[in-house]
Amino acid sequence: MSRREHFLELRTQGPLIAPSILLSDFCNLEKETARLEAAGVSLLHLDVMDGHFVPNLTYGIPILEAFHRLTSLPLDVHMMVSNPADYVEEYAKAGASCFTFHIEAVPEPGPLLEKIRSCGMATGLALNPPTPLEKVIPYQSMVDNYLVMSVNPGFGGQSFETNALDKLQQLRSLVGFERLLEVDGGVNDETIKSCTDAGADLLVVGSAIFKHEDYTQRVQTLNRLVSH
Ligand code: DX5
Ligand code: ZN
Repeated sequence: MSRREHFLELRTQGPLIAPSILLSDFCNLEKETARLEAAGVSLLHLDVMDGHFVPNLTYGIPILEAFHRLTSLPLDVHMMVSNPADYVEEYAKAGASCFTFHIEAVPEPGPLLEKIRSCGMATGLALNPPTPLEKVIPYQSMVDNYLVMSVNPGFGGQSFETNALDKLQQLRSLVGFERLLEVDGGVNDETIKSCTDAGADLLVVGSAIFKHEDYTQRVQTLNRLVSH
């Protein structure tokens, strides 16, 4: 089974918490990964930032390869970079399961979506709060996962922007249940239920997990809030 097929299987298990490891303890990645696996998460969200598309610079291939060695969980890579097409092959080799890039960085995403698929990864298309759905809908046949940003990308710990809920609702009605819908930024105990009610399958959570001591307790609390 390709990493893309493995990732698409998440559709049948939703809604799922996707921990954003941006806020994890980078002095102890092995321990952090074990704690997240013990907490029962089904995937990891890796925020790659180039300091150009967003005003922050995080990590790249070495960290992705490290997580690929540390866990068999699907690695959901969120590319907040200006030239995502430059990285597709090496990210596929390094273990990415889903390669998500921003429509704001690639206004004509067709060729890049094809390239990601040809490398065996699931395709992800992200849109920022100000970007209208019209920009991303035309490509739905090539998109496995829509990432609806509920904050302007670049940092964890920001407040949830509610216009993401309208987008999730409209997206679900436009693209049906064929595709995954993911929401990212400011997802916590107060906002998570409105995200799943609006149709989100994957819920990226950073500070609402990593700012706490007990990851298992946090993931269980968040899962309980979204269980139907
Ligand atoms: C922001 C990243 C998010 C962020 C989530 O640019 O894409 O994944 O790390 O962190 P919280 O949940 O704290 O908003
Ligand atoms: Zn992210």
